[in-house]
Amino acid sequence: MSESKPRPRSSALGVFDSGLGGLTVVRALRRLLPQEHIVYLGDTARVPYGTRSPETVLRYARGCANLLIQRDIKALVIACNTVSAVAVEMLRAELDLPVIGVVEPGASAAVSQAERLGGAVRIGVLGTAGTVASGAYPRAVGRLSTRFEVVAQAAPLLVPLVEEGWLEGEVPRLAVQRYVQPLIDADVGVIVLGCTHYPLLKPLIESVAAELAGHSVPVVDSAEATAGVVRELLEERELGSGEAGDGQLEVLVSDLPKSFAGVAEGFLGHAIEHVAQVDVVVG
Ligand code: DGL
Repeated sequence: MSESKPRPRSSALGVFDSGLGGLTVVRALRRLLPQEHIVYLGDTARVPYGTRSPETVLRYARGCANLLIQRDIKALVIACNTVSAVAVEMLRAELDLPVIGVVEPGASAAVSQAERLGGAVRIGVLGTAGTVASGAYPRAVGRLSTRFEVVAQAAPLLVPLVEEGWLEGEVPRLAVQRYVQPLIDADVGVIVLGCTHYPLLKPLIESVAAELAGHSVPVVDSAEATAGVVRELLEERELGSGEAGDGQLEVLVSDLPKSFAGVAEGFLGHAIEHVAQVDVVVG
């Protein structure tokens, strides 16, 4: 993580994602750190990132980070797994503030779970094509422990299903089966949800994995794990908001589609009162 100049504790946390899925991370942050102000940016004009080249993802991510930094945030949370997978190191090197991605916390939660299970557990990862191709999860797991092999599976149909609010029934079940089957065939002991959108499918993924494996398979959500890492960082650097009362949430998007309200509420768990449209400048 890059060294940072001092920033006021009362500044907001900046959180961004390719779209609205990163609101699952905001939800976890607000549960754990209710007093923190958060400014969230969803690059809805450019979503999805998961199918794009690493160079393009990095350009988009720089645009998002710069927009949030202009709002004097005290730390940057990359809620997007694809950006965390391909661009976190570059952003840390380039930016003068703490940068937290979702891959390392997700990998760490998976390793803890695998250690609890004991033995030669394999860790399964579901993610976008970009996240899987980057090899970021195997690298992150390998930095924590050499005991666990990682089996990663791209699950491209799951993002559009969640965007449609299609979280149960025959079609999502078939899609989830298609992606979870190779992980069960590889005998994974734990599955990491390596994409912002998948926490909404967690009950279905748990149920399908248990059915295919014949026993329950723990499913780890990187949103919860990331919120825990943000809390530790704020404590360590004495950056936690000292204010009493609930923090505010400001939501910015680069495009405001008609379906915004319903989709955003699905990810966040409650309605969003104010949303502003902004231009993300991409170099
Ligand atoms: N936010 C992306 C991720 O977590 C999923 C959506 C996309 O492909 O942009 O990887």
